[in-house]
Amino acid sequence: MNAEGLVEVVLPGKVEPEGLRIRHGAVPTAGPGQVLIRMEATGVSFAEQQMRRGRYYDQPAFPFVPGYDLVGTVLATGEGVEPTLAGTRVAALVKVGGWASHVIVDAADVVEVPEGIGAAEAETVVVNGITAWQMLHRKARIRAGQTILVHGANGGVGSVLVDLARAAGVKVIGTASARHHDTLRQRGVVPVDYRTEDVAARVRELVPGGVDAAFDHVGGRSVAGSWRLLAPGGTLVSYGSASTRDDEGSKQWPVLKLLARVWVWNALPNRRRAYFFNVWAGRALAKNAFRARLRADLTQVFAALRRGDVTAQIAAELPLARVADALRLAESGTVAGKIVLTP
Ligand SMILES: NC(=O)c1ccc[n+]([C@@H]2O[C@H](COP(=O)([O-])OP(=O)(O)OC[C@H]3O[C@@H](n4cnc5c(N)ncnc54)[C@H](OP(=O)(O)O)[C@@H]3O)[C@@H](O)[C@H]2O)c1
Repeated sequence: MNAEGLVEVVLPGKVEPEGLRIRHGAVPTAGPGQVLIRMEATGVSFAEQQMRRGRYYDQPAFPFVPGYDLVGTVLATGEGVEPTLAGTRVAALVKVGGWASHVIVDAADVVEVPEGIGAAEAETVVVNGITAWQMLHRKARIRAGQTILVHGANGGVGSVLVDLARAAGVKVIGTASARHHDTLRQRGVVPVDYRTEDVAARVRELVPGGVDAAFDHVGGRSVAGSWRLLAPGGTLVSYGSASTRDDEGSKQWPVLKLLARVWVWNALPNRRRAYFFNVWAGRALAKNAFRARLRADLTQVFAALRRGDVTAQIAAELPLARVADALRLAESGTVAGKIVLTP
């Protein structure tokens, strides 16, 4: 029995951030193959901005506990799990459920956080680091000396993408609001203001031959623009539809449209490739291969963080009880990096 209580955040339906509720309960018990994690850090992802509007592609039914990923210490292990895992700091990608003081996860889904990395630091690279690493190294297969275009270079995913690309010897052009440009320059990025500049014209001016890869989470018109900016042999990685967050109508349609576009682009003879990246791809068909890939890639990202190749960009650290402020802040368009929630 655990003397502590469970505290979790519930998203009851389509609400403003202030509509999120705090629920208290009993700490759950780890079943066979599971571990009980005491959360030390979780975070706000773009997915929660979509989920509170009922607009996430794979929207869970209300009410539910949001929280895409977490870092914490294993408190207890279930039957069949190596008991020495208890006391270890781990990270997990969960999609929902992370915004809680205690979380149950399959032991096969946790990845050990190396010594010397703090919980909040580690949290900045869980979903963001896996996404950035896989897009760069498994999809675009970037190489030193290349030039890439990163949209939203100040965001959670964007800032990790920038650091990993720079560490690989790649030149980065990054779009962001002007207030983030100084920070981006310090990180070795050539910034472009997507709010006031003609992004395509500016990128053409900087790299007349086109970019070797473009990473686009904006969707809509932006993604076609990104495709046209590719050099021969270049790769487009589309991975979101941020521009349709506030639209009405089908939540799947914007993504289906992206998938159709990617299909058409790849079907045409044009010496360029396009992908739609989904961090969950392959999980349903080959769970063990998915887990092995995720573990290998997150381990690489943690190593990069420890070496200093990646700087943990913590935009703010707030307790779970202030989750409404955290979500408002994430949606304010003023943030650089990841908003971290602590117990
Ligand atoms: N496919 C996948 O598996 C996968 C996995 C993880 C994340 N994602 C996607 O990755 C994106 C970033 O996620 P995140 O958690 O890093 O979010 P985040 O930290 O909130 O960052 C969002 C970034 O997007 C910019 N942005 C927001 N709305 C925009 C618009 N309409 N046009 C252009 N830029 C816009 C923001 O710029 P300002 O600060 O200037 O507003 C910010 O740089 C999201 O679209 C998310 O859905 C996809």
